[in-house]
Amino acid sequence: MRQIIIDTDPGQDDAVAIMLALASSELKVLGITTVAGNVPLELTERNALMICEAAGFPNVPVFRGNAEPLKRKLITAEHVHGKTGLDGMKLFEPTIQLQSTSAVDFIINTIRKHNSNTITLCPLGPLTNIAEALTKAPDIAARIQQIVLMGGAYFEVGNVTPTAEFNIFVDPEAAHIVFRSGVPITVLPLDVTHKVLLTDERILRIASIGNQMGREVANMASFFERFDKEKYGSNGAPLHDPTVIAYLLYPEIFSGRFINVEIETQSELTRGMTVADWWGVTDRVANAMFIGDVDSDQFFEILIERLSKLP
Ligand code: RIB
Ligand code: CA
Repeated sequence: MRQIIIDTDPGQDDAVAIMLALASSELKVLGITTVAGNVPLELTERNALMICEAAGFPNVPVFRGNAEPLKRKLITAEHVHGKTGLDGMKLFEPTIQLQSTSAVDFIINTIRKHNSNTITLCPLGPLTNIAEALTKAPDIAARIQQIVLMGGAYFEVGNVTPTAEFNIFVDPEAAHIVFRSGVPITVLPLDVTHKVLLTDERILRIASIGNQMGREVANMASFFERFDKEKYGSNGAPLHDPTVIAYLLYPEIFSGRFINVEIETQSELTRGMTVADWWGVTDRVANAMFIGDVDSDQFFEILIERLSKLP
């Protein structure tokens, strides 16, 4: 069983990723750490509690993380995710509470407490918490099994500026720290997430699972797809964050290259760009497995099969 910590800014696609992880017995979710991103922290932490409770996992500990990026002003994405961050889902006041330990201390303590190379970090939002943990406790870098994150872009370029993907754009300094940490990193960028589109047919299949979580996911999808369909003229919204969890479960449906990825932090024009040396034109040392492709039909088969295990 693979032990993971999910770091997240829910967000409808984060919610689906958390559900997929909770529904997969191959994974043990040791905790969920929240960060500001799609919406401010007081909403992402509330949303994380709500998702765990609605999915039937009230005992998964949820921790409060950073409300702001390391050095920059927070930029949010209500225009994509709605004011609540989970528009489309039937919202309620969660009865489960946040843990008293901070997200960063939970990450540090958990990695120090467990044997080396037994904990995988799964960041689904800005990398502020991960960067702070690595800075506060440099010893943990050698102990982390892997970081599998959703973020960045190369062939798909940016979704929040012409050159940057949202998670990296919000906190480029944090991303720089993570990508320079020496921890084994796998990146699920827009290049791959733009290939797992929530088409009407797939939304209908999810709605037809017949359980509450299937209905919730279909309703959330119908809300947050409107922005991407209009923007890209695509036939559905990309389901970004669940690709991280699907990669842990079935890496064989993905493909990519082990390359160098650097983060632009100086230029305001290209701030947050993941400068991915896909063609190997520099002598910069490779530091990340950069995923470029996925079998999207298999991805949705896995997602639908796992969602059917939830309430
Ligand atoms: O750019 C897509 C990413 O930004 C996803 O993680 C989405 O949830 C938002 O955080
Ligand atoms: Ca996210």
